[in-house]
Amino acid sequence: MAWDVIVLGAGAAGMFAAIEAGRRGRRVLVVDHAAKAGEKIRISGGGRCNFTNLGIRAEAYLGRNPRFALSALKRFTQWDFVARMDAAGIAWHEKTLGQLFCDGPATQVVGWLLEEMAAAGVVLWLSCPPGEVARGPRGFTVETPRGVQESAALVVATGGKSIPKMGASGFGYRIAERFGLAVTETRPALVPLTFAEQELEWMRPLAGVALPVRAGVARGDAGPPGSRPGRGKPGAPAAFDEAALFTHRGLSGPAILQISSYWREGEAITLDLLPGQDAAALLRAAKAAQGGAQLATALARHLPERLARHLAERFGPRGPLAEAPAARLDALAATLRDWRLVPVGSEGYRTAEVTLGGVETDALDARTMEAKAVPGLYFVGELVDITGWLGGYNFQWAWSSGWAAGQVA
Ligand code: FDA
Repeated sequence: MAWDVIVLGAGAAGMFAAIEAGRRGRRVLVVDHAAKAGEKIRISGGGRCNFTNLGIRAEAYLGRNPRFALSALKRFTQWDFVARMDAAGIAWHEKTLGQLFCDGPATQVVGWLLEEMAAAGVVLWLSCPPGEVARGPRGFTVETPRGVQESAALVVATGGKSIPKMGASGFGYRIAERFGLAVTETRPALVPLTFAEQELEWMRPLAGVALPVRAGVARGDAGPPGSRPGRGKPGAPAAFDEAALFTHRGLSGPAILQISSYWREGEAITLDLLPGQDAAALLRAAKAAQGGAQLATALARHLPERLARHLAERFGPRGPLAEAPAARLDALAATLRDWRLVPVGSEGYRTAEVTLGGVETDALDARTMEAKAVPGLYFVGELVDITGWLGGYNFQWAWSSGWAAGQVA
């Protein structure tokens, strides 16, 4: 059959591209190998879908050229998406750090997108694994279990490699390469970090302990522009002020997931266990006010008790605080401020929220997501070498890039 547009992948980006193209009167077919559309939307944000962030900006994105994302993000903004949610009557609220979540279940968002696709005349084939994709007389051909489909435009929106159990396949990267587009190295991101057995011996008893930290990566070189976390220019010091969580395998929690996108094998991560506080002053004050107390007791006033005990045993002077040499307390304060831990790896694509890397942005038109060398071929969403921080940034990229392709495909 012949279509104007075939969209591969019925996730956030693919559905949004299909809706926009369908609204323009294009005959659109969406093909997905999964039995249900928008599965990642359904499970996202703990079932409440953190669908965007009020603080969308280039700094919150990683990739060889994070600024590539700005064109689409500025043309279809977080406020544009919020307006669509409002029009659909889907209630939402701001949690922390500008993160917008649904009040109700995330399935509302999936249901709404499916309705919008139907209203725009989009045809959706689920449980329909596409096979060979090639150039055809009208543009492109896609083999499917329902026969070979032809289209003038092809939008590839098959997502990254994270959570293979939910249908992630790497299919889109192969299509890109087939059409001569470069794909940057991919790796799991927004993922818990794992540690060697010798570290796990002391970490395991701390499993379940959570605390606010400032997490960073200890790195000597400046790295490529845009490849580093920071609250300013590329090269600014790494820092995420969020919660960390000890687990049986290592470290998790939002601060760790954020920093995992920047961490590379062999590097240490840094944890400030008392962010915004002067650890040395706290310890000096404790010595003055509670001289008879043990260090663990004093630390437990500011840190979870199990962690306070561990730190005191491992790094602290023993005996009553009054007898602790000032130099030992200052050394401990330095550790509390800049605790360095060296992960051995991450939990991988099994639990990673996103995939870092992907279709090289140099090969795409930032305004439309069209491959510069292959007219009619578009790549959108997570498949592209644009990855956001935790906190709604990834969905906004999916909406914005899908929207951009949908205006022209
Ligand atoms: P997405 O992965 O959503 O969709 C790809 C589609 O392509 C799927 O329907 C898949 O079945 C299909 N597909 C794959 N291979 C195919 C093949 N070979 N043939 C046909 N179809 C194929 N982000 C955020 O901003 N806020 C949040 O709250 C969360 N929460 C969250 C939780 C969890 C557990 C995960 C794993 C991820 C998140 N994310 C998130 C990230 C977010 O889910 C992700 O960035 C977007 O879903 C990406 O949208 P895409 O449409 O690009 O891919």
